[in-house]
Amino acid sequence: SIVVIESIDKMIEWSQNERTKGNKIAFVPTMGYFHRGHLALMEMASHLGDKVVVSIFVNPTQFGPNEDLDKYPRDLKRDIDLAKSVGVDCIFFPNSKYMYPEGFQTWIEVEGVSKGLCGDKRPGHFRGVATVVLKLFNIVQPHVAVFGQKDFQQLKVIERMVQDLNLPVKIKSHPVVREKDGLAMSSRNTYLSSDERKSALCLFKALELAKKLHQTGIKNAKEIKKEMEKLIHSTPNTRIDYIFIGDSTTLKETEDCPSGTLIALAVWVGNTRLIDNTIL
Ligand code: PAJ
Repeated sequence: SIVVIESIDKMIEWSQNERTKGNKIAFVPTMGYFHRGHLALMEMASHLGDKVVVSIFVNPTQFGPNEDLDKYPRDLKRDIDLAKSVGVDCIFFPNSKYMYPEGFQTWIEVEGVSKGLCGDKRPGHFRGVATVVLKLFNIVQPHVAVFGQKDFQQLKVIERMVQDLNLPVKIKSHPVVREKDGLAMSSRNTYLSSDERKSALCLFKALELAKKLHQTGIKNAKEIKKEMEKLIHSTPNTRIDYIFIGDSTTLKETEDCPSGTLIALAVWVGNTRLIDNTIL
């Protein structure tokens, strides 16, 4: 059966107890409002460890002042049932006032890979992510943690932090989980009207187009980008935030596209900002 822990001290105690028993802890950090993408990460975690811990925390420090912190979807009861259905052992559901008590002033800045892409468009975002993930690692003390490739830059930031700070956690990643038609699953998809839901498919379509062009021998990043832009511009209610084509490790843009090149994009669909990516 599943246990829901709100207290930071109790969570530390739970994990220490499991470790003492010799159990391997696999951890999936989330902001809740689960979809199949989250559940796939939990299932992967259950194969990587003896006990699965999932955190649900809508982390205020990774949201900008004009972003959707207040309207971010939440439904703890539903999340508990879904987590149960995939065999999660423990949900950590801390309160913001204990995660960030008065006087909090320590931050994790991962420099290189936090720049460009979403890092440029969401100042301070990855500082908030890296800080909360390190805090969660210290509280949950996992042997292994699972992240989704949907948030590709976030995955790179966490991998870099773990390497640079010698954290005793193995980072594993799961491919992007999609709807039947290709739209990447996201808690933010719930913001979309039915017309916007149709337009939202342009991210996936643009990535598929890029792959097709690449396969037919077009290796120039600018050329591929131009075709992606054309496709998105012809979709109602959309505005491109960025299209990135470059190295999947350094996250630096490149002129040509050897196989292994990352294409990542962010597009506003109405008032909702969506992201997606693929590797060529
Ligand atoms: P959240 O957006 O809830 O995502 C939690 C995890 O699920 C992340 O690792 C994310 O990459 C993964 N994920 C989301 N949608 C996915 C999809 N369609 N396919 C595969 N994986 C998917 O990412 C966060 O929360 C936060 O930034 C967090 C890491 C919890 C720090 O606050």
